[in-house]
Amino acid sequence: MKDVYILAIESSCDETSMAIVKNGHEVVSMVVNTQMDTHANYGGVVPEIASRMHAENITMVLEETLKQAKMKVSDVDAIAVTYAPGLNGSLLVGIECAKVLSLVYNKPLIAVNHLAGHIYANHIDNEMNFPLLALVVSGGHTDLILMHKDYDFHVLGRTLDDAVGECYDKVARVLGLKYPGGPNVERLAKEGQPTYKLPTIMDDGSLNMSFSGLKSAVINLVHNETQRGNEINTSNLACSFENAALGELERKTDLALSKYQVQELIIAGGVSANKHLRSIMENLANKHQIKLSVPPFKYCTDNAAMIGSAAYPLFLQKKFATHDLNASSHLDLY
Ligand code: KG4
Ligand code: ZN
Repeated sequence: MKDVYILAIESSCDETSMAIVKNGHEVVSMVVNTQMDTHANYGGVVPEIASRMHAENITMVLEETLKQAKMKVSDVDAIAVTYAPGLNGSLLVGIECAKVLSLVYNKPLIAVNHLAGHIYANHIDNEMNFPLLALVVSGGHTDLILMHKDYDFHVLGRTLDDAVGECYDKVARVLGLKYPGGPNVERLAKEGQPTYKLPTIMDDGSLNMSFSGLKSAVINLVHNETQRGNEINTSNLACSFENAALGELERKTDLALSKYQVQELIIAGGVSANKHLRSIMENLANKHQIKLSVPPFKYCTDNAAMIGSAAYPLFLQKKFATHDLNASSHLDLY
């Protein structure tokens, strides 16, 4: 079969990214332009600023992606773009760019769900072995997904309130750490001991999870101790929080692996960059004698290579989008 090159665009949050991906798992080129430093001044992503910066940067990102690949738009077979979920204004910049390229160069348009992208980040430089269990852990999602084949997503359990990444970000803020909180909490936690007693989460025997009680417990603890004039040992608190949060992910993933026979466990989304989580999942995979697949660090957080990878099965199935494609901020994958 002829090689398939997909030009993929990701702009759902605060990264403007494009990539050219060959046959769904070979990254020919990738550019990620992050706005992180700008949003760090506000303690989180400001949607209006994010969409303006996407609009300012997207042409430059396209030129650089093509230059790195030594290719022209006319050389690719399809244009893929993230259409949901995400910030509406940000998504629209990527979508409009994709539509223009698709129309001008007469290439099929492929609409990709951002979460499918995170899962298919595991397909880059790698094969996915079905059936598999995917733990999707990002700023907006915490889901356990069973897949028997491509694009066959069954939700076994999910957070009933906050996503684990969001919880990391809120805890970071109350500890006085900079945005994005996850990596900074991880760094601080490594220096500490789990000395603070925090509530254990959702022990109801289901595969659902909950993180808002833990988040509130950390915030309340910091406020109460500050009011009393007591000093907080921030590295010990970060460590106690991380142990509780990752402990919840460990228990529920372990339970899912006991209930469902799979060949492989994969982790996906921004929080999968966490080294402590990776080692917990490595141990679980060993315990259940299955393979663990983890995306390389650069494909854990938002990037367009994962969108190109997730677009490939849709290309093979000729599932193309029409040019009235619109953004959707809350659309569910499953
Ligand atoms: O997947 P992602 O880049 O964006 C969304 O789709 O949400 O995930 C971002 C989330 C943020 O909440 C960030 O704090 C968290 O992933 N994150 C981490 C780490 N790196 C990123 N959380 C814990 N440890 C990390 N090393
Ligand atoms: Zn993401």
